[in-house]
Amino acid sequence: MNDRFLKACLRQSVDRTPVWFMRQAGRYMAEYQAIRRRHSILDVCKTPALAAEVTLQPIQRFQLDAAIIFADILLPLEAMGLNLEFVEGKGPVIDNPIRDEVSIVQLRPVDGDAFNYAGEAIRQALEALNDRVPLIGFAGAPFTLASYAIEGGSSRDYARTKQLMFSQPIVWHQLLSKLSAVVIEYLRVQSRAGAQAIQLFDSWVGCLSPGDYEEYVLPHVQGIFSALRVEGIPLIYFGTGTAGLLPLMRKAGSDVMGVDWRIRLDEGWAMVGHDVGIQGNLDPMVLFASEKEIERRVRDIMQQAAGRPGHIFNLGHGILPTTPLSSVEFAIDCVRRFSPDSQVVM
Ligand code: CP3
Repeated sequence: MNDRFLKACLRQSVDRTPVWFMRQAGRYMAEYQAIRRRHSILDVCKTPALAAEVTLQPIQRFQLDAAIIFADILLPLEAMGLNLEFVEGKGPVIDNPIRDEVSIVQLRPVDGDAFNYAGEAIRQALEALNDRVPLIGFAGAPFTLASYAIEGGSSRDYARTKQLMFSQPIVWHQLLSKLSAVVIEYLRVQSRAGAQAIQLFDSWVGCLSPGDYEEYVLPHVQGIFSALRVEGIPLIYFGTGTAGLLPLMRKAGSDVMGVDWRIRLDEGWAMVGHDVGIQGNLDPMVLFASEKEIERRVRDIMQQAAGRPGHIFNLGHGILPTTPLSSVEFAIDCVRRFSPDSQVVM
């Protein structure tokens, strides 16, 4: 198998820098759109054959070094009793959001059986991948999940989320404990089905002050990573807008830190320490620029990584729906061309 992604996660020597893109399966691909014309996103996620097929689409088209299972971070919320819908042009909507302590008590505890479809999707994707590249499993981190559960969808200022955190800290911790327990179950199912690495998406955690992150979020994420440590696979922790949080996020205990473009990759890496891997961090919008500009930006990131072991090239956030396929291909090619001959452990 092409294992340079897994090796880089553990900061081992690789022949060149591995590359994959967050949301690499999605609307920018006609093959994905064709499936979505006939099936809702939730159907695709919950029908293992469809999830596996969509997972493979970018692998068949591009020279990527990892696949990521097609699913969504919000699926565990549905298992806990929240009504999840994806509304065209609006994104996720939950019509019975958490607004008080009672609704937190009423959240269903969930065991692994609720995620049988996710295990089966992983098994079918692994079979279809046939050892070409490793398969990444993933889940949402408890803060980011709580923000959707409380706001009832996407949010700009996380007002209700912070209101609960600041005014009812004990209730907040109860909610995060419940979410974390379900996230652990969900990730265990994926790991035991054969996922070769795990990424925890804390997409919106960058809205917090360092003090609030440390008090209200970090202990829960530490609990998740320590529970998953025994699975023996690399663990990645990703967030956006995290420049002020990175040293604290590092304490959560992942093998790799994902960073977005709002911080230089070399500065972010220095902040978390070169004893963990770093994943990132091209602005997804750069894929709408000229090839000359894409090339310049990819080269710059590779120079910042400076051939150290443990760099995984990725975007700083998910690929955007109207991204030109030719730019995706070109960026991957640039990663290859500007890779150091090797990332060698000194
Ligand atoms: O990376 C991959 O290829 C795997 C698939 C994946 C999806 N969602 C499929 C999806 C992954 C890793 C996710 C994670 C996810 N989902 C996150 C964390 C990553 C991030 O971007 O910060 C978040 C915050 C969500 C919640 C979510 N799901 C939103 C906000 C939306 C709507 C976004 C939009 O652009 O409309 C979704 C729906 C969703 N999940 C889509 C995909 C491909 C688009 C749905 C469609 O096909 O219409």
